[in-house]
Amino acid sequence: MLNSYEKLLQENKNWAIEQVKKDPSFFSRLSHIQTPEFLWIGCSDSRVPADKITGTQPGEIFVHRNIANMVVHTDINLLSVLEYAVEVLKIKHIIVCGHYGCGGVRAAMSKESFGIINKWLRNIKDVYRMHEAEINNEKTEEGKANKLVELNVREQILNLAKTSIVQKAWKNEQRPHLHGWVYGLNDGIIKPVCEMEPGSRIDPIYEYDNL
Ligand code: CO
Repeated sequence: MLNSYEKLLQENKNWAIEQVKKDPSFFSRLSHIQTPEFLWIGCSDSRVPADKITGTQPGEIFVHRNIANMVVHTDINLLSVLEYAVEVLKIKHIIVCGHYGCGGVRAAMSKESFGIINKWLRNIKDVYRMHEAEINNEKTEEGKANKLVELNVREQILNLAKTSIVQKAWKNEQRPHLHGWVYGLNDGIIKPVCEMEPGSRIDPIYEYDNL
């Protein structure tokens, strides 16, 4: 009887054999090059697997996940992924995908202290404060949380547009196209909530003119 982690290794072997059966050059092709068209910035939540819910294959989608799909300008991990994806991989689309029922967003709406994660959730509390009136138009707690999930995705798309990395690529290469999506845990459907085409304008105070 295999224990839980041994089962993962066994499933991995089965998967590798299956891939080669379907496409004998699968691994030799992918081991040489990756040319994904998409960068996915999603939540770490185990119920929102980027490739499964989009039907994408290995090599098609470059993935960064953190709690509540945040784009934080001091996060060296996110910035490294973003710069590499935009400048080296030349990706064409960046997707920020949140999800309804996000535990990170719910925690940020509460007054409970969770330790070090408070620092991270502070960024979502800021989104709440900026859009408090709109959120409070919702009658139910669930409605408020869903609205904050959507507004949070919008703010993270704006945060991408505020980076010199995205602005430089917009100016010089007319890419990437930014997409804000929200995934529904209860129906598996992704709802697009916003987008920004290359060259979109943002508040001028965030625009760099020497890129
Ligand atoms: Co989440």
